[in-house]
Amino acid sequence: MSRIFSGIQPTGELHLGNYLGALRNWVSLQHKHECIYCVVDLHAITALHNPKQLEKNTLEVTAGLIASGLDPEKNIIFNQSTVSAHAELAWVFNCVSRLGWLNRMTQFKEKAGENSERASAGLYVYPNLMAADILLYKATHVPVGDDQKQHLELARDIAQKFNIDYKTELFPLPEPLIFGEATRVMSLRSGLKKMSKSDPSENSRINMTDGSDEIKKKIKKATSDSGLLPGRPEELVGRPEASNLLGIFAALSDKTLESVCQEFEGKQFSVFKSALVDIAIAVLAPIGDEMARLLKNHEYLKSVLRDGSNRANDIALPILEDVYEAVGFLKT
Ligand code: TYM
Repeated sequence: MSRIFSGIQPTGELHLGNYLGALRNWVSLQHKHECIYCVVDLHAITALHNPKQLEKNTLEVTAGLIASGLDPEKNIIFNQSTVSAHAELAWVFNCVSRLGWLNRMTQFKEKAGENSERASAGLYVYPNLMAADILLYKATHVPVGDDQKQHLELARDIAQKFNIDYKTELFPLPEPLIFGEATRVMSLRSGLKKMSKSDPSENSRINMTDGSDEIKKKIKKATSDSGLLPGRPEELVGRPEASNLLGIFAALSDKTLESVCQEFEGKQFSVFKSALVDIAIAVLAPIGDEMARLLKNHEYLKSVLRDGSNRANDIALPILEDVYEAVGFLKT
């Protein structure tokens, strides 16, 4: 049996990278699989944050998931802190995971920056919590963007070590699902930097709530290069900005990169960018409008999360019980 799990942090605004690398794929998976999608608020406090803003972001991300096309009845959508088993299993995994494994995590190094002594202990053990998120549901497949690949490998290592240490076959080894033509969307300012919520430049990303004018302005301003567009993907080597923009176009229009290259072969960026503006507005503007509509009704959004939380708990609790039994906690 396959079970899908994935998560997204309620920190800052959702952007095109989240949409193309994750949300869009989540939507396509819902038709054939049992899916659990989590707004990971426990992860969001690993960096300094504003509590009021966290509440607001949690609702906004929930609205983003639904507006992107996830059906809250078919899928389980909930916020992580309401299912306490996540934190409980994370503790067990803190004791399974190895310091050597955590020390290799590139995202910790990037996020902690120069002064890692001042990073929270939570940020360091973040990948253990992520493994707990997935394995708490015995999820078999995890749709994510390319940047989460290393964390997924760690989750597999933890599952395997747990099974060996406790002589059990409790956990499946979860597989990453990284697909589509834009698994790593780069900044619009530099094709060498990932598009991210934490980039100080607003022009580096397209937010899912951006209106048509903003989308147009940001794409027109996006860094390009001085060449004409190539006819084949192989010719994109060494042209990170062209590669990024063509990949975004391909993903938004549901075409292959190859066919997009053929379509725009020999064209100037100005021509291509106008087409990119059109497709980006056609796909994103209705989602942004729907988010705005949903955000007027907090009670509805909370009821979706509440229902998701009940359903998630029903799956998680028996699995946590099995874990507790395997590690030898006495039941009284
Ligand atoms: P987060 O919140 O940073 O991102 C959510 C999803 O969006 C994808 N993504 C991107 N994809 C392509 N290009 C980009 N520029 C880009 N930026 C973000 C991410 O790969 C992710 O799929 N640790 C996770 C959240 C998490 C999780 C989990 C994921 C917590 N527990 C369990 C899967 C399973 C994170 O910080 O994602």
